[in-house]
Amino acid sequence: MDIDSLQAQVKNDLEKVSSPEALEEVRVKYLGRKGVVAELTGSIPGIPVQERGEFGRKVNAFKSGLHELFAKKEESLKDGEALRGENIIDIGMPGIAQQVGTLHPLTRITDEICSVFSRMGFSVAEGPEVETEYNNFTGLNIPLEHPSREAFDTFYLKDYDKKLLRSHTSPAQVRIMQEKKPPLAVVVPGRVYRPDAVDASHSFMFHQIEGLMVGEGIKFSDLKGVLETFAKAIFGEGIKMRFRPHFFPFTEPSAEVDISCIICGGKGCSVCGRKGWLEILGSGMVHPNVFKHVAIDADKYSGFAFGMGVERIAMLKYGINDIRLFFENDLRFLRQF
Ligand code: DAH
Repeated sequence: MDIDSLQAQVKNDLEKVSSPEALEEVRVKYLGRKGVVAELTGSIPGIPVQERGEFGRKVNAFKSGLHELFAKKEESLKDGEALRGENIIDIGMPGIAQQVGTLHPLTRITDEICSVFSRMGFSVAEGPEVETEYNNFTGLNIPLEHPSREAFDTFYLKDYDKKLLRSHTSPAQVRIMQEKKPPLAVVVPGRVYRPDAVDASHSFMFHQIEGLMVGEGIKFSDLKGVLETFAKAIFGEGIKMRFRPHFFPFTEPSAEVDISCIICGGKGCSVCGRKGWLEILGSGMVHPNVFKHVAIDADKYSGFAFGMGVERIAMLKYGINDIRLFFENDLRFLRQF
């Protein structure tokens, strides 16, 4: 049998094949126990010795060529089946939408607030949540007898050498002024902890943003200007502000800052308790005793500080009435931001 014409015959046979069954038949015809290849191999002993080697090589090449051809045919049958059958690939079908995450509302508002202050030249820093009693209280001129130092107002860490979970972000002021000398302007966002019973407006953990600016000739009017720029950027140009005298141990004079109610515009409603004003933060001029603790010359330098609750700002801005919503991870709530 002439191997070259066999080769042509195989190709011919394979062209006609259109199913796995037909392919199997052709395979048996050539590679089966009584197939063409077996017959060729069986004929080798009858070939004259001089031609035997050459013939044997041809038979082997033919055989491995067959394996390749069959494999290719099998592949193309499968592809054809995929295009025709149930596994059809519809390249026009829209893809499966991936769920895209969003920033948590507290992250969003924190970023927004920090970027307002960045535009005014403040840098953004962070401080540790586990603080020393010194940074949280003493360095801030909070006397030993102050009620906020009581165990029921602050989480003290047991057996941990006067360490506690910071009850406000103000200890960052102490850290910043120990490390850096004026002029400086920094905002510090972060978590704070207080052993409060959880309800619609209280949480044992919440977020604050602290602000501090120290330099030569910093005045209360600078504080007013900075906070007004902040409030207008976050709540809108039409917002009004007022400063109410207050007491904080680490600032003198101190003030609480209110904005005109964003719900009723100042007329009085249930959100502002009929007052027309909403308290948004505490502030004041850095107390000379705080400067003394960080070895800054209070005769040469002055500064202001402020601290705000991030949840409170977010609740006012977005009309959220329960602080617990921020921490429950309910996607129906979170997806709205
Ligand atoms: N640390 C205060 C609090 O948690 C808020 C505060 C008030 C921060 C006045 C300040 C400030 O920097 O000047 O209630």
